[in-house]
Amino acid sequence: MEFVVKSGAAEKQKTACLVIGVHKKTLPPSATAIDSLTEGHLAEILKLGDLDFKPGHSLILLHTRHAPVERLLLLAMGENDKPLTEAGFNKLTANLASQLKSLNAREATIAIEDITVEGKSLHWITRQVVEAVEYAFYQFSQFKNDTGKGPGLKKVTLLADRKNAEEVKTGLAQGQAIGNGRNVARTLGNLPGNICHPTYLADEAKALAKKHGKLTTKVLNEKQMSDLGMSSLLSVSAGSEQEARLICMEFKNGKRGARPLVLLGKGITFDTGGISLKPGATMDEMKFDMCGAASVFGVMNAIIELDLPINVIGMVAAAENMPSGKATRPGDIVTSMSGKTIEILNTDAEGRLVLCDALTYAERYKPEAVIDIATLTGACIVALGHHTTGLLSNNEPLAEELLSASKEAMDRAWQLPMGEEYTQQLDSNFADMANIGGPAAGTITAACFLAKFAEAYPWTHLDIAGTAWKSGKEKGATGRPVPMLVQYLLNKI
Ligand code: BES
Ligand code: MN
Ligand code: ZN
Repeated sequence: MEFVVKSGAAEKQKTACLVIGVHKKTLPPSATAIDSLTEGHLAEILKLGDLDFKPGHSLILLHTRHAPVERLLLLAMGENDKPLTEAGFNKLTANLASQLKSLNAREATIAIEDITVEGKSLHWITRQVVEAVEYAFYQFSQFKNDTGKGPGLKKVTLLADRKNAEEVKTGLAQGQAIGNGRNVARTLGNLPGNICHPTYLADEAKALAKKHGKLTTKVLNEKQMSDLGMSSLLSVSAGSEQEARLICMEFKNGKRGARPLVLLGKGITFDTGGISLKPGATMDEMKFDMCGAASVFGVMNAIIELDLPINVIGMVAAAENMPSGKATRPGDIVTSMSGKTIEILNTDAEGRLVLCDALTYAERYKPEAVIDIATLTGACIVALGHHTTGLLSNNEPLAEELLSASKEAMDRAWQLPMGEEYTQQLDSNFADMANIGGPAAGTITAACFLAKFAEAYPWTHLDIAGTAWKSGKEKGATGRPVPMLVQYLLNKI
């Protein structure tokens, strides 16, 4: 979507659709101006009572007399003139985006200052509106011959007072970077396993580096990983015709020598479960098992777009988990790069097996912090559903920073506990640890497994099994937690 920021009076805009806010009790300034220009037309129509003033409702008026607009989209902002709650605002942006999608117009104008939210700045509101529009207008149609008509809207003008134009512009820039980054993650997530395999992800990372001077990409192949002793990671790709890759995208735009932040994504491009084969129903959804990796790509895109002055390493541990004569068996014991041995009791607990070697490899960056992002456990869906990302950490200040970024970005996360009692569930009779900890607290024991490989730095694990994609009619990748992570990085500068 093309966005522009403009100053001027709402009632004077020549536009195919002017979007303004309305309350039941009193009309806000732009609505008042339109009302007087139209000789009370607006108040008359509102009096008819067709508009429910609860946020999330709206009304489109056509051919408003005397006003230079073709359509007037009235956004309900509540009974009285109080700012919206966050929940109300979410309903409003969702409704706004879907109304804009249904317009048969090339452009629209939003009186952005009409929308007010409790405790939130115009910058924040602008950003969220832009993100919502970018999210709603996303299409994944590259494999469809008949793509339908699609939305007609190509341009949105954000109308703001001259004194607020700069604030709206920075909100817009961030909203677009986050929205675009999120859509990059969605596309990678939506691509099927026969196209998006580990080498495809590596090629994407190389292409990104080619396009942007500040990024360099290094890719390790299986031979190089084997030389480093990454037998845990390689045990996952053993059964696949597709070779594993460890991808490192190095963005060095901060102070020279400043310790980088490492983002590490689980990149299982398809998870059959391996010899511990998954049931067939909805197995297709395991193409999304690289959504952690996809979110790393999304964040790298966003920070490049915003040119953030920080050092970030985007790592992706990419492999395909397949059964075959060469596949890892339940009971096999492997030695990880760290030297720790792992008894693989279930080949479907493969995410932690690729991540542990990548976590050890990350030590060479001497990171300030490492955040891994992974569709790691079905148990996380049981615990938190599809609304909230699981967050587990070995460092409270880092966990707090991420939780506060998550609140600010409205990209929900919730911290789960860790501890010795849980770690003991991983005890093995034959090796330093097993790769599963039994049916209880599956998300926590998975994190405890990872923590054994993340002792050298502050570390947080984000379990996005429930939040990275939607099942059912709206099946597809969500691009989460790109907003939370970009916010975390924005807070660093
Ligand atoms: N990718 C899955 C986790 C997953 C499962 C995400 C269902 C979304 C929906 C992961 O590799 C996995 O299979 N985990 C196992 C772990 C178990 C064997 C300890 C799980 O959650 O069942
Ligand atoms: Mn699995
Ligand atoms: Zn998996």
